[in-house]
Amino acid sequence: MPNYRKPWAEPYKIKVVEPLKVTTREYREEKMKEAGYNTFLLRSVDVYIDLLTDSGTTAMSDYQWAGMMLGDEAYAGSKNFYYLEDNVKKYYGYKYLVPTHQGRAAEHLLSKVMIKQGDYVPGNMYFTTTRLHQELAGGTFVDVIIDEAHDPSSHHPFKGNVDLQKVEGLIKKVGANKIPYICVAGTVNMAGGQPQSMENMKALRKLADKHGLKIMLDATRAVENAYFVKDREAGYANKTIEEILLEYCSLSDGCTMSGKKDLLVNIGGFVAVNDEHLFDELRNLVVVYEGLHTYGGLAGRDMEAMARGIEECVNYDHIRSRVEQVRYFGQKLLDAGVPIVEPAGGHAIFLDAKRFYEHIPQDQLPAQALAADLYIESGVRAMERGIVSAGRNKETGENNFPKLELVRLTFPRRVYTQAHLDVAAWHVEDLFEKRHKAKGLKFIYEPQYLRFFQAKFERLD
Ligand code: F0G
Repeated sequence: MPNYRKPWAEPYKIKVVEPLKVTTREYREEKMKEAGYNTFLLRSVDVYIDLLTDSGTTAMSDYQWAGMMLGDEAYAGSKNFYYLEDNVKKYYGYKYLVPTHQGRAAEHLLSKVMIKQGDYVPGNMYFTTTRLHQELAGGTFVDVIIDEAHDPSSHHPFKGNVDLQKVEGLIKKVGANKIPYICVAGTVNMAGGQPQSMENMKALRKLADKHGLKIMLDATRAVENAYFVKDREAGYANKTIEEILLEYCSLSDGCTMSGKKDLLVNIGGFVAVNDEHLFDELRNLVVVYEGLHTYGGLAGRDMEAMARGIEECVNYDHIRSRVEQVRYFGQKLLDAGVPIVEPAGGHAIFLDAKRFYEHIPQDQLPAQALAADLYIESGVRAMERGIVSAGRNKETGENNFPKLELVRLTFPRRVYTQAHLDVAAWHVEDLFEKRHKAKGLKFIYEPQYLRFFQAKFERLD
């Protein structure tokens, strides 16, 4: 027996390659300045290793690409829609499906149909687009995640859990009739890709039933959540990912989905529900904003690729390698003393910018500065998830000051090898050693909605 730990490897081999461009530091300094120190405004050809997002950045399989040729591009009743509908029923368990072009379109429809002016929507931490659609529909988002989720050094195994007392408190305060649904995500993106336990979801279901409330799941990364449940929760080690996913979804009344994550496609999403009346309203509204209810803004081939992606993403070897790749990267940084959100999440490693750039106060946008510096030093592209992403208070117009000030390094599925991760980790460690030289940023342009996408900044001296 060799005396090192048993290695694991990516459960695929590479059939098509896309060359990467290596640039100089001077070149990147110039490009970052041009992009207003916002990594969203860089051109991707100028990026070496792109860890901006895991959204739509997947490498599709040969099985999915083959399916693209079977696109039935009919305006109505495409066969790919029925295949997708069958797979959503089979793997997620929901009765009715309305496809959309991506996740936020599903959130738009659901929010419009379910939320009234003056409503409150409790959720286990906000996601940017989810909260915005809830607010645009007249609702107020209320964070009901457990306190540990806001503490980057807490090792709680299920930091995505809902704090039931916070939900009860809200029901007492505003009344159940002001709560159209409880919005639950597993895993929780903004908390660091942290999972929710099945036990917590079961308890929430009980509470919701007691008050006649619905639970709507953001199932975007529910397969990653299922992997964590299998890995960490008592009683689930011998269950399959399929079984865990079905059980988890059965505790909700419906879901919104960005297929660009778990489902291994470059575009696509859906909203799925069990209530026929609700389905009727969603199906009616999708025609206004997306397209007919059997394509929802997608080509037939996109629905085919997504239906096939559902089958692939619940495969244990796939999901294990996906999540373990992220853990591997996180462990490297931890070993080097780099402050990250612990434990490692399902889709990303989040640098804790408050500890990384200790000397930069939050109103000088330390996470935004850190993401910009990482690109300049290495060509690795990451994303701010802190005060810039948190936006302004809807009533007062003041900046929200989130407890978490993070930089997200997000891993596309099946795209990068462990060697790429080694290179990226080396650069983060190198930057950490030079951290004392770093300077903050200030806004020079701030859009009204989801400002992090298009804002521009300038360096502070
Ligand atoms: N819900 C979650 C949990 C998400 O992470 C996202 C997107 C959405 C909904 C919206 O879906 O992009 O298809 O419209 N997250 C991407 C990210 C943008 O980079 O985290 P979408």
